[in-house]
Amino acid sequence: MAAGGGLNYERLLRPLLFRIDPETAHNLAVRAIAMGLVRGKLLVDPRLEVTAAGISFPNPLGLAAGVDKNGVALRRWRGMGFGSAEIGTVTAHPQPGNPKPRMFRYPEQHAVVNRLGFNNSGCRNAALALQGHQAGIPIGINLGKSKITSVEDAAADYLTSFQHLAKFADYVTINVSSPNTPGLRSLQSVDALREILEPLISENKMGKPIFVKIAPDLHFDDITAVAELCGELRLGGIIATNTTLDHSSLPSGRDQVGGLSGEPLREKSNAVLRHLKAASPPELALVGVGGIFNGRDLHEKLALGASWAQVYSGWVYGGPMMPYRTLLEYLELKG
Ligand code: FNR
Repeated sequence: MAAGGGLNYERLLRPLLFRIDPETAHNLAVRAIAMGLVRGKLLVDPRLEVTAAGISFPNPLGLAAGVDKNGVALRRWRGMGFGSAEIGTVTAHPQPGNPKPRMFRYPEQHAVVNRLGFNNSGCRNAALALQGHQAGIPIGINLGKSKITSVEDAAADYLTSFQHLAKFADYVTINVSSPNTPGLRSLQSVDALREILEPLISENKMGKPIFVKIAPDLHFDDITAVAELCGELRLGGIIATNTTLDHSSLPSGRDQVGGLSGEPLREKSNAVLRHLKAASPPELALVGVGGIFNGRDLHEKLALGASWAQVYSGWVYGGPMMPYRTLLEYLELKG
């Protein structure tokens, strides 16, 4: 992905980065950002400020989960122009993820497919990385189930991660929607979700807002049930959405197993957001993610009822100035 704020990303750097294996390019970029070698631009404007779930954000465009899985560039995301950053997914146990290659670009479709499988250094190492670091923007920590933990024992796995990491977070996300951990998405059923959430709520002495991140492939009835549960448990809100298993937008000869993100996901995740807005109690904050590439896309998420939004793929394609450009364009539309 990204590099050099002052350079022409799309003409010069992106073609170079896109010649390298996507995961290698991504890791290089995140390392360069962590070292302060790559800068974006921060747009400060009071018209961009939002408050949701009791958290104040300097702007409504956040970095989505998956970019900085271990929190290695925590203090850099503000300077890259983001109004928040979601670290993770972190699991209780360190794990290598799936065999490589496991991340694929589709430039003509402005899409990405990944089957990384929660490669991360585990909640204890993440706690060491996050300890004492200030981000200057709200930080979410996204938790997932370890692959070695059975679906039946998922609640204890999430609780371990929560106990280690909640104190470093402004909000905590319970990720039950990645398609790359077998059985994970079955945890979106109301009974399984309640079993995970209730122990976290008892443990949550600091009252950190808890969010649930859902898949775009759920039936609307199931989305309604999740929204009702989140309302009943007085959670912070719902993040919609994770990647999709619908690959109908991709050329079949080049298809890969995994979750699809980027432009082809936009309409699907907007439909989920629209449904959530109608189905949720007003106290629940909604976070829109999926297919944001410019200010118009961001404006649409917020108009559909999202309190703030997040981006991953649009940033891969747009480069380090993408947040600045997007927010500027959004302000023009907002008036
Ligand atoms: C992701 N995403 C993701 N989500 C999550 O909750 N935990 C994770 O670890 C990851 N990892 C991840 C890796 C890669 C390579 C991609 C492309 C995506 C999903 C991401 O946060 C977001 O929900 C979707 O990508 C949709 O947003 P975009 O990419 O269309 O802006």
